[in-house]
This record gives sequence, structure tokens and C-alpha cells, in this order.
Amino acid sequence: MGLPEERGRSGGGSGVREEAGARSRARSWSPPPEVSRSAHVPSLQRYRELHRRSLEEPREFWGDIAKEFYWKTPCPGPFLQYNFDVTKGKIFIEWMKGATTNICYNVLDRIVYEKKLGDKVAFYWEGNEPEETTQITYRELLVQVCHFSNVLRKQGICKGDRVAIYMPMIPELVVAMLACARLGALHSIVFAGFSSESLCERILDSSCSLLITTDAFYRGEKLVNLKELADEALEKCREKGFPVRCCIVVKHLGRAELGTGDSPSQSPPIKRPCPDVQGKLKEKPKRIWPQISWNEGVDMWWHELMQEAGDECEPEWCDAEDPLFILYTSGSTGKPKGVVHTVGGYMLYVATTFKYVFDFHAEDVFWCTADIGWITGHSYVTYGPLANGATSVLFEGIPTYPDVSRLWSTVDKYKVTKFYTAPTAIRLLMKSGDEPVTRHSRASLQVLGTVGEPINPEAWLWYHRVVGAQRCPIVDTFWQTETGGHMLTPLPGATPMKPGSATFPFFGVAPAVLNESGEELEGEAEGYLVFKQPWPGIMRTVYGNHECFETTYFKKFPGYYVTGDGCRRDQDGYYWITGRIDDMLNVSVREKIGPIATPDYIQNAPSLPKTRSGKIMRRVLRKIAQNDHDLGDMSTVADPSVITQLFSHRCLTIQ
Ligand code: WT7
Repeated sequence: MGLPEERGRSGGGSGVREEAGARSRARSWSPPPEVSRSAHVPSLQRYRELHRRSLEEPREFWGDIAKEFYWKTPCPGPFLQYNFDVTKGKIFIEWMKGATTNICYNVLDRIVYEKKLGDKVAFYWEGNEPEETTQITYRELLVQVCHFSNVLRKQGICKGDRVAIYMPMIPELVVAMLACARLGALHSIVFAGFSSESLCERILDSSCSLLITTDAFYRGEKLVNLKELADEALEKCREKGFPVRCCIVVKHLGRAELGTGDSPSQSPPIKRPCPDVQGKLKEKPKRIWPQISWNEGVDMWWHELMQEAGDECEPEWCDAEDPLFILYTSGSTGKPKGVVHTVGGYMLYVATTFKYVFDFHAEDVFWCTADIGWITGHSYVTYGPLANGATSVLFEGIPTYPDVSRLWSTVDKYKVTKFYTAPTAIRLLMKSGDEPVTRHSRASLQVLGTVGEPINPEAWLWYHRVVGAQRCPIVDTFWQTETGGHMLTPLPGATPMKPGSATFPFFGVAPAVLNESGEELEGEAEGYLVFKQPWPGIMRTVYGNHECFETTYFKKFPGYYVTGDGCRRDQDGYYWITGRIDDMLNVSVREKIGPIATPDYIQNAPSLPKTRSGKIMRRVLRKIAQNDHDLGDMSTVADPSVITQLFSHRCLTIQ
């Protein structure tokens, strides 16, 4: 592969197309022919045909996909029913209501027994320390999940119950979530980087009856005493009159004390070597194993419960529209919303997006670097890859430990073929230059992906040129916790890419761009990004607050799902996300509202308090304006130092 310009001139349909004319167009990068050749969707024309069918005949399109899965009983009534228009009544979305299935059965039992992939590796686990690794096959994972499902059953967990999970990226996290799914219990996973306050708030909001956590873990050099945080959260819950009666604790940092274990019924998973603690102590800082406090009658060790658990565990057959999980998303205002996804639609949607967006093939090794505590991890570490029988990397560490080449050494170690990360990680690693990347071969890489925020063209080009050595298409995937899976995205073998654009809608997705009056704009336009019809992965409600669901996503423009993002559609129909609409300051307020809307002060700020996905925390800005230091739950803020700075510069710039 030569430079993109050379590929463009070679006339093979690959490379850069730059059209001259009055309006200069953004460069577009054609998919490499070697990717298109074997791709599920090998051309833009084929994508367009499939996309058209998915919109015109959604029931048939998704019905065909549903046939790949196991259904205990078929769909008795309409395949899809919905109302997207608040003026016509309650908002609801139902895919395959009345059909029964189990997502855990589909991602494990079906893969082992129907697809005969029991011996295939489901996860290569790469610990915080590069030498701490293990792997787990589909069969072993199924055994562990059955055991843990029996553990949960014994603790009284039933269909519909809520289980909070607060764990680092270890195999037991996947086991715990799938065991919940097997029983029809809703998992509510709280990112292990969150505070005890946010854990408490989330446990209370959905009244979780059980908590699963871990003794402690290292994130890079930093020790996180997770059990201590979990204890604080449970203490707060007790104070508020909600005692959680059971807390199951995985011995992770203290794992070496348990021995390696040679039965898959034990935790940790088999084949796990003891970490070479002695060897490491020579050159590395001392690793402390904290004393764990123990609440008799509440706390139980995972490995002890697992030893007593039986092998057989019949899954709980669930309605396609039964809830699967709750995942809290931090809004820019107010308290976190419990986004609810359901069994059937979510399963179809994450499996299908995974297959097409990463152009999955049986021999792939997939690596999504996101934590399972985020929707990206739910959909593209756990459910999407497993539903396809894929082999993935499960990574506990961070990109900069032990050094900035960790991602690329790990790519080489497992011969990763498809790699999915966030623009923040790319920008961070870009600062260290090309050498930490090019030091490693990366020859296995075929497709690269990004998610979470708009990727600036500079970072896109570096990712493409340096990481992907110009060979790998980049899928810039736009989606949300609420959408369950990818919404706007290139397909690697089909879509000519433009750096910074999430390109076109996925199958079943009908985007529109609206102006302030709610009118659909045609052609080249900029405005509100909305979706006109439901896709299977859309959230169904906000836990315990359906009104909040309707108000947040459907009130502003009746008949549409409102993303809250602004976007531009260019002359080629490409979508460019411009950012969260609620973060934009409408500069013409004074004319519209009158002189009371004239700002008293304008404060310059090098940055704002944002969540990890870039939502500005307006609640915090309001407090800063009022000089109120009682900020409440700050667990979702990405960079707390910004706040100190905003307080110290308060009112310095007086207008
Ligand atoms: C918000 C959703 C979806 C998993 C990660 C974040 C922004 C996400 C892109 C992208 C531009 C993006 C949007 C969206 N966003 N992906 N490819 N290009 N912006 O999930 O926390 O629910 O945040 O992230 O603003 O609304 P989330």
C-alpha cells in the first residue's frame, strides 16, 4: 500500500477522491479492495440495497436475522409495534413481544451446542500487569455462568430482581452479568471508577437486592480498594433505610492465595498462572494487598459459594420485551437516568451491528478497550462478540501502563484483527509520537474503530496512517447508551470514509435533520439529529420513570427520537456530529428574550466540567456561578481539576 494519493491514482477504486469545484469536498477514503473482497457488505451499492430493505420492510429484515437465534416459543403476534408520537399517547416500542428466549442461552449454550464452538476461546484476559493473563473458552465460560447462576438462585435472586455489579475488568464480571441474564434478573453495572456515593445512588434508584464486587485491583500504578468503597456504599444504603442483605466478593488481588485451581467450577478460571509478585518487586513499586473488612452475615466469598454450586442451570425463559439490564447514564442535568434495555431487540441489534460494523469473521480476534461499566463494554465486549461466537481480548489495564505502547504490544500478543477504542485514547497516545506504535508489528490489524465523541481529522489521520499503516478502514461509530448499538457508522468493506464523519445510518436506522421548528431539512443541512422509526436496540424506558423517558427523548419533536446531538449533513449525504445541542450557547438570546437575558459576566474557561462522553455538567456550572461549593455527586466528571480552576477564576473576567 502506498500513500493514499497514489492509491487514488491507481484507478483501483481505492484511495483518495478529491473533487475540484466551487465547493471543495472533504477527502474520502475508499475501503481497501482486500477488505471489500471478503466483506459481508462488499460495496456501497450493496449497503444501500440492504439499508433500503431494512427501512421499508423492518419486520422481514429483522425477522430473517431473528431466525439465527434460539427462541423457546415463536412470536405469537405482531413482530413490531410502537408509538413514537407523544401527542398520540404513551411512547412504547415492542419487538417480538410474546416470543420467549434467553440471551445467555443464545450467547453461550447456542454457541457451544449448536455452533459446536465450545473449545473456542471466548476471552483472552490481559491483566493490569502484562504477565498476568488467562483465557477462557466458551465451554468454560458456560460452566462458570451456570455455577454462578445457581449461586444467585440460592441467594434468592429471581426473574425481574435487580443485581448491582461493581467490578474491574476481570472474567468474573462477564460471568456475573451473564448469570443475571440467565435468571432474567436485571444487572445494573456501576463502573468501578465511580465513587461510593454513585454506587449507593444507583443501588437505591433501582432497589438492588444484591451486590457483586471485588476485593481490590490495580489500575496502572494506582491501587483501588474497591471493597472499601462498596462497604461505604452499603453503609449509606443502610442509613437511608435500604439494607442490601448480600454482597458477593471476588478475591482478585488476593487471588494468588487461592492457588491456581484446576476445576472450571472454581474461581479463578483455570489456566491462570500465579502472578509473579516476587519477580516484579525488584523493579516495580511495592504492591500492597489491602486488608479487607468483612461484614458477617452480608459478605460472602465468590470462590466459596462457587465450590458448592451445581453444574446444571436451566435458563429462565424470558419475553423478548422483558428487561435485560439497567445502565445509568449521566445526563447534563439532574440525576443519572437508568436506561433500560430489553432481551430480544438488544440481542438482535448488538449481534448484527457487531457482525457488520467490524465485518466479523470466525478467525477474528476482537478487542474493544472500553470498560464493561459503559454501554460500549456491554454491547461490544460482552453481548455482541459472544452472540457471534467471537474471540475477544478482555483488558484490565490502561493504555499507558507499563508504558505508552501497551495497546500495540497487546495487539501483537493476541494477533488482534479488529480494534475498537475512543478518540481520547488516540489523542493521548498521539502525543508520544509514532515510535511506541511502530516499534510493534500490528500486522494482524484489519479494521480500526472509534466511539464516544467526534474524532478530529488530525487524530483520525494519525490512527489511519500510523496505527493502521494505511491498510485499515476506520469505523467512526456514533451511538448512545440509549441506542444500545451503533447508529451512524461506516461499514469497512463498503463505505468511503471521511475523517471526522460517522458517515451513514446502520440498517434499520432512519435519521433526519430538524430545524428549531421541527421541520425536516433536506440535502445539505445542519440541525438536530433525530431518528424517525424504532430500531431493535432502542431503550424502552427510564427505570421507574417512564415520563422522564418521554420528556427527554420524545417531547421536543413529536414523532421522533431526539438524540440531543447536533449534526450536519454534507452534499454527499454524510453525517457529521457537531456535539451535544444542550451545550451550545444561543448567542442571540438578548434579542429573543429581552434585556434580562444579557449575561452579567462572561468567564473565559480553558475547559468545562464534562462527563467522559463529553456531556457538559450544567448543574455544576450553575453551582460555580453561584459560588456554591456543595456540588453533590461528582463521580461522573472526567477531570475534577477543571472545577477547582473554574472556581478560582470565577468572575475574573467581568464584562
Ligand atoms: C454521546 C453518547 C456510545 C458509547 C459511548 C458514549 C457522543 C458517541 C460518537 C461519535 C461523535 C459521538 C454523542 C452521543 N458520541 N459516539 N462517533 N461521534 N459523537 O455513550 O455516554 O451514552 O454518550 O456520545 O454526543 O450523544 P454515551
